[in-house]
Amino acid sequence: MFKMGIIGWGGMGHFHEKLVTNKISRMEVKGVYDINPKKYEDLEEFGLIAYETAEEMLQDREIDLVLISTPNNFHKEYAIKALRAGKHVLCEKPVMMDSEELEEVLAVAKETGKIFTVHQNRRWDRDYLIVKDIIQNKKIGTPFFIESRVQGARGIPGDWRCTKVAGGGMMLDWGVHLIDQLLMLIDSPVVELYAQVLKLKYEEVDDNFKLMMKFENGVNALIEIGTHHFTTLPRWYINCDGGSMTIQDWSSGAEVVRELDTEMDWEMGIVYTAAGPTRTMAARPKGTTETYHVDIAEKSSNHMLHEMLVDAMESGDYSKVAVQPDEARRSMKIMEAAFKSSAEGILIKDRI
Ligand SMILES: NC(=O)c1ccc[n+]([C@@H]2O[C@H](COP(=O)([O-])OP(=O)(O)OC[C@H]3O[C@@H](n4cnc5c(N)ncnc54)[C@H](O)[C@@H]3O)[C@@H](O)[C@H]2O)c1
Repeated sequence: MFKMGIIGWGGMGHFHEKLVTNKISRMEVKGVYDINPKKYEDLEEFGLIAYETAEEMLQDREIDLVLISTPNNFHKEYAIKALRAGKHVLCEKPVMMDSEELEEVLAVAKETGKIFTVHQNRRWDRDYLIVKDIIQNKKIGTPFFIESRVQGARGIPGDWRCTKVAGGGMMLDWGVHLIDQLLMLIDSPVVELYAQVLKLKYEEVDDNFKLMMKFENGVNALIEIGTHHFTTLPRWYINCDGGSMTIQDWSSGAEVVRELDTEMDWEMGIVYTAAGPTRTMAARPKGTTETYHVDIAEKSSNHMLHEMLVDAMESGDYSKVAVQPDEARRSMKIMEAAFKSSAEGILIKDRI
């Protein structure tokens, strides 16, 4: 039985405790450290111990794995301390404040021979698993435009997430999830990138952005995160050379239209449509496409990252860890390039 210690007993600390306790048979949470002792009030209910300091937890020989679920600006300090204390580390996203910090931590992980990985849990989202199946199995051909969006209208929660020093802002918060998903979906380097990152309602941090990326294999993608969007677009809108698909929201499943292998005759003369006289934008003739709905069972697989981590710790084979160092590195680099593109108003050409 592997034992986990949690640093940062807030929203995500509780999330991991529940997940490990309910779903991971080979791991249990032993105790927590939080800088705010008031957070310890519910520990008895969870049957967990409170460490007085982070060092006390790191010296506990029973602890195999440390989860870091503090605000982002403390990830580096705790990751390095935990690795040096001989613990494996699962860190919340965004993995670090920037790629320089990440390199420092990865160097320590290499030196100590311990696992350092990131909780990129949205690789197991239901909508994403549907997209992955359709795109990677080429069910409607090869994508040329992928649009991935998350939009709300409530602004950013008024805590550390609004401050620059703690690594707040939508790029590091939600952007990192959607970027990670796309990098795992399209097996090709990003060669062009352009972003518009706004600070609409907050002085210190970005709250709305659009990021365009072109992959070397020709796929183009748009990521949009909004916190001031009072009407919304679908979670996913994807166009491929053999059809299109839309996923409205997290649990709607996908509407897919597949082009059939049939000849499409053009009508002669003017065609009158709702858009006026146009043949180009007129509806496709019946029988040249098929439309269907795709969904998967609601049963969540969001414990897979933890299962794979336990497999890796048990076997000593770190290639079993779900999120590999280079994957975390690429997401950080994309976010940094996006900030640069927006600040300087330039198209970034690179190979990330
Ligand atoms: N993967 C996801 O889906 C997901 C979702 C939300 C948040 N997160 C990430 O999880 C991390 C924590 O977010 P949260 O929503 O749980 O925040 P939170 O504010 O609910 O909890 C953070 C906790 O850390 C404690 N803390 C603050 N500074 C500390 C320090 N120096 N040492 C020890 N404890 C300290 C706070 O007292 C608080 O209890 C962030 O990195 C965030 O980006 C990930």
